[in-house]
Amino acid sequence: MTAAQMIATPDEAARKAKESTLLSPRFYTTDFKAMDRIDVSPIRAEWDAMMAEYEGDNNHDHFQRNELFAKEVNEVFSQVSPELRKEFLEFLITSVTSEFSGCILYNEIQKNVSNPDIKALMRFMARDESRHAGFINSSLKDFGLGLDLGGLKRTKAYTYFKPKYIFYATYLSEKIGYARYITIFRQLEAHPDKRFHPIFRWFERWCNDEFRHGESFALIMRTQPNLLRGANVLWIRFFLLAVYATMYVRDHTRPMLHEAMGLDSTEYDYKVFRICSEISKQVFPISLDIDHPAFRAGMERLFRIQTGMDAAKAQGGVLGKIKQAGWALAGAATFARLYLLPVHKHDLPAQVRVAPAW
Ligand SMILES: [Fe+2]
Ligand SMILES: [Fe+2]
Repeated sequence: MTAAQMIATPDEAARKAKESTLLSPRFYTTDFKAMDRIDVSPIRAEWDAMMAEYEGDNNHDHFQRNELFAKEVNEVFSQVSPELRKEFLEFLITSVTSEFSGCILYNEIQKNVSNPDIKALMRFMARDESRHAGFINSSLKDFGLGLDLGGLKRTKAYTYFKPKYIFYATYLSEKIGYARYITIFRQLEAHPDKRFHPIFRWFERWCNDEFRHGESFALIMRTQPNLLRGANVLWIRFFLLAVYATMYVRDHTRPMLHEAMGLDSTEYDYKVFRICSEISKQVFPISLDIDHPAFRAGMERLFRIQTGMDAAKAQGGVLGKIKQAGWALAGAATFARLYLLPVHKHDLPAQVRVAPAW
């Protein structure tokens, strides 16, 4: 079996979506009682302005396909190489899984809290994520690879995260999602000949939803200032690094995808890190020193370790297992070294919200 044939059936796609590895998107559950106790009164004015935006729902008509869509898939996507096709399908599967992960989490919180502010917010965000997941899934269906989202919800493993970890992780994944989508959109806006699938045309308005979701978690965190200082800053550092490292390693396993867009995976990732670090100053008192040579070398090393790990897994047997353990140790040591690198410190701005200006 060649690599290009790996995702050929809906079962293969479902297996990929269900994967529980360090790099695959997860489903989360949390402490709903603690979510219920969130009090947004310290940031009421900014909160109400944000809720009015959700209410206005300026993307309500955005996630619909037109006739041009199918035409473009037929004309343009049919020209791509088998390798690019494979990477793109994997990209769609991880994307639909992470969109749907948000949808499930927000929906579960919405169902389990009575706090009207949190309930309303979670309902709006679940609405958005469900549109996003459905929209990507219809592109998978074009290839007969649509995911059964209901089945995925029932059978994929859930990870429990305390609310504060949900805030750090979800805030970052929303903001990095924005940065990823807008960077791709801008690149293809400048190089339309490299747009090999019509879904990228939707990314501009789409990423504004993700940006707003991130704003919601920024506001929630600013109502609990203790989450943003003292020992919790060590957690913020951990999540920043974990999210950046996961993205770096995952993106570097799909070099064709970026190359086809005229992007280099490393350049693309640093562009995304830069945007995300800039935005996250609204809420995090530190940012990672992404230009530190040791940071860049560490990221590269994590990718090489992952490549070694994949080869050891494929090899199997006792020797394969021993090699996997070796790579796991090397990965942990590299992550620890990255974690201990110096960081940039900043004061939090008085006004929390920022505009999606990229
Ligand atoms: Fe989304
Ligand atoms: Fe989102």
